[in-house]
Order: sequence, then C-alpha cells, then structure tokens
Amino acid sequence: MTHRLETFFKPKSIAVVGASANTTKIGNATLKNILISDYDCEVYPINPKEKQILGEKCYKKLTDVPNDIDLVLVSVPAKIVPQIMRDCVQKKVKNVIIISSGFSEAGNHELEDELKSIIEKTDMNVLGPNVMGYKNSADGLDASFVYGKARKGDLSLISQSGALGIGMIYLANNEFVGISKIIGVGNKLDIDDDDLIDYFAQDPDTKVIGLYIEAVKDGRKFMNSIKRCKKPVLVVKAGISEAGARATASHTGSMAGSDKIYGAAIKQAGGIRCRDVVELFDMARALAGQPPARGNRIGIVTNGGGLGILLTDACVENGLTVPKLSKTTYKKIDKILPDLIKPNNPVDIVGDAGFYRYEAATRALLEDSNIDGVIVASVHGGYARPQEFTGAILKMIRERKLHEEYKKPILATWVGGKEFEDLVWDLKSAGVPIYPSAWRTARSMMGLYLEGQRLKREKKKGN
Ligand code: ACO
Repeated sequence: MTHRLETFFKPKSIAVVGASANTTKIGNATLKNILISDYDCEVYPINPKEKQILGEKCYKKLTDVPNDIDLVLVSVPAKIVPQIMRDCVQKKVKNVIIISSGFSEAGNHELEDELKSIIEKTDMNVLGPNVMGYKNSADGLDASFVYGKARKGDLSLISQSGALGIGMIYLANNEFVGISKIIGVGNKLDIDDDDLIDYFAQDPDTKVIGLYIEAVKDGRKFMNSIKRCKKPVLVVKAGISEAGARATASHTGSMAGSDKIYGAAIKQAGGIRCRDVVELFDMARALAGQPPARGNRIGIVTNGGGLGILLTDACVENGLTVPKLSKTTYKKIDKILPDLIKPNNPVDIVGDAGFYRYEAATRALLEDSNIDGVIVASVHGGYARPQEFTGAILKMIRERKLHEEYKKPILATWVGGKEFEDLVWDLKSAGVPIYPSAWRTARSMMGLYLEGQRLKREKKKGN
C-alpha cells in the first residue's frame, strides 16, 4: 500500500502561497528552489498582486488554480494563514507545508488551535507551522526556502530545530555524508516524528534515519515507530541537563522530559542515542556503508602504540571488548611483523608499516572467529607513508568480496597533519568511515554493535 506521505515527498503539482518577486523574501527563495530543482512537476505561484513571478504564471488565489494541487507551501504572515488553510480545504489539497512562524512557539496558541480545527476533519497532511520545509535529494526536489543543495545519499534526517537542520545540511556536505531527505518538523501541528520515521522506514532511498529532538508529543507513538522500523534509527536528544531543559522550554516551548526515561525508552525501542549531530553523522556513515557487528569483540591494527591504547580504552568505555588474539591469529600476524615485536590486540604493526602489513594484519583479524569488527589506525609517523595506510583502507573497505566473505565492519582512524588530511578527504568522499579521533571511531563501532544486537533480537522474534 502506498504510504500517505508519498505525494507529500513526490508531488506532481506544487503551489507557493506568498510567492514574491522580491528576492529578499522567503516566498521568492521557496519558489526559486522548486523551479531550479531537478524535478518534474507543475508549479503555481500564488500572489494577489503579480501576473508572473520568475517566469511562471501567477494566480491571485489558490482556488483560482484550474488543476489539482498535491502540495502547497505557505509563506505569508501568520494571521493570513487560517484563510489560506481554508482555501486548501476547499481545493482538496493533499499536503501543506506552513513555513510561517508566529504560532505556539511565539505564545500564539489560539492561532495554532484555529489551524488545528480547520484541518481536523480532513485527511490533509500538514507540516509545521514554523518550518524550513524539506529537501528531497533522492528525487531532486527542493521544497524549502534554504539555500544550497544536500549531497545525495542514504541518510534521512528529521530536525525539530529549523536552524540546526539547515546547519546539518552543510555539515553533512562537508563530512561527505549523503542525504536522502532532510526535513524540519517545527511545531508538529499534524505531521510528527513518528509519521516521518514510518515513511522513511519504507522508503527505498533511505538506509539510515537520524533525528534531532528536544521533546516528542506522544512518547508511545514515537517509540513504537522506532520499534517498527527495520532500519537503524539514530537519535540526538537535546535538553538533557537542567539548564538545557530550560533552554528547550524557551526554544520550542516543549518539555524536555527526563533524560533517563528517554534514554531507556530509545534503547528499548532499538534506537541508537547519539551525543550530538557530529556523532550522528559519524554513525550514519558507518551504518550506511558497513555490515553491523555481530558481537562486541574488536580487533585493532595500528602503526602507533599510543593510538592503539586510546582506541582500546575508548572501545571498553563504550561496551566493546578488545580480546586477546587466538593462537592461529597470533601465528599469522607473527609472520608479517618484524622480529622486534610480538603480536597482541591492539596489533602494533610498527611505525614503518606499509601497505602489505596493514592489509595482512586486518585480514588475519577478519578471519578470526573471536573478532566481530576491526579498527585500522594510523599515526602520521616520521617514516610511515600515509598513502600506504589510506591506499590499504580504501582497497579493503571498498572491496565488496571482503565484506561478503567475513560480514564484519572495518572502521579507520588517523592522527596527523595536512598531508594526511588531504588523503582522508579522498577516503571520505568514497564513503569510507574514517575518523580523526579514537573516541569517535569507538562510538561508531558501538553503533554498529548496537545495530547488530537489534538485528539479532529481530531475528529471534522471527521478523
Ligand atoms: N495569498 C498569497 N499571497 C499573499 C497573500 C495571500 N492571501 N497575502 C499577501 N500575500 C503576499 C504578499 O503580498 C507578499 O508578496 P509581495 O512581496 O509581492 O508583496 C508575500 O505574500 C509575502 O507576504 P509579506 O507580508 O511580504 O510577508 P514576508 O515575506 O515579509 O514574511 C513570512 C512572511 C516569511 C512567512 C514571515 O511571516 C515569517 O513567518 N517568517 C519566519 C519564517 C521562518 O523562519 N520559519 C521557520 C523556519 S525554520 C528556522 O527556524 C530557520
């Protein structure tokens, strides 16, 4: 059955109410974004004064448009919005995005209640008010007023904060994390986080779902949508400190709620809690490209002893283990190491390690049935060539056969300078999960482990 939000994300016709010829206005930016989208649909600007905007025929009222309208974006001052919503009801519009602010977030609860009563007896899907809209990179449609394009990919993001959501688009681009859809939920008059999780759960263009939330309206519905979802759901929950909860109340007018209760409920539902949006992107990159870890036993390969210890500590602190090597693995690795060093986990392949030592040690760990995931680390040593590390990583991580053979994740970490950083950009742009800190790498591995645990539970239940 087609999901009720299908025409919301893939409309055949769009109207912009409050479209403007004035390039400083949100109604102009919104219309322009739709027109420059790589997306085929009918577009109707609505403005009582104009005949044409950006080359498109303009209508005075929504009800003047002769054809059906799948999606309406509203960018007029709050007090006019109820009338526009009545026009939408009359025109039998299926989906509406209310960009306008000035409702409950500004203490104007009566105006928001009026919108609620207008749509109450309809099956209209309404996003907002007080939202940026969405960018659907998978299909090429930009239904937002926000400047800039999101890189196409597998992550769908839901943000309760408009500005942070916008920031996340640019951060994702910087981090080479591809976005399928990004959407702001604002005051959640109708479309809520759980509706969007349900939609993304069945969306073939979404592999991983990420959320920034301050509070949810209906905790049970929210948790059930995560529970139903067969894809990884990453949640950044803000307002966890007393002062943060105070800031939440004044930002979106919502109650942050008990952090412990949220934490336990998200975990029980099978979601993965992230500390911040950078961690969300870290984990998303790992989950979109790597198989989940079937257990928590991690093998570490490093050319620097210190980095190996930092990784070990970070793994252990995040519920992972770094077990001793089996006899077989010990023997395999002993053969490739110089005489001065004996194999251990972390496996120190020493500062002069080149391409072959990285690859052979990693393969030995992947072959070990006591190891569920591998972290490959490199420090920019005086005589170790970074290209050999990055070359080995690229080959191993992208080599499909390796994953198909062992079904174990590989993550990478590095510590170094400019020369290294340039090479890391290449890796990131190829989708390689590589991180500039032991902690971030271990947390991402933890995400893969938690996803592995969730899948195990699903399998047990027969799903
Ligand atoms: N039907 C169609 N168009 C109309 C109507 C109507 N009934 N009435 C007025 N208009 C036109 C206006 O004439 C104007 O067009 P013009 O430039 O040709 O004159 C256009 O609609 C817009 O109306 P303005 O009164 O000029 O309003 P303005 O564009 O200044 O502001 C807006 C409207 C952007 C919705 C503003 O009220 C607002 O809410 N701003 C905040 C939006 C926001 O930040 N949302 C949250 C985003 S998420 C985040 O936090 C980043």
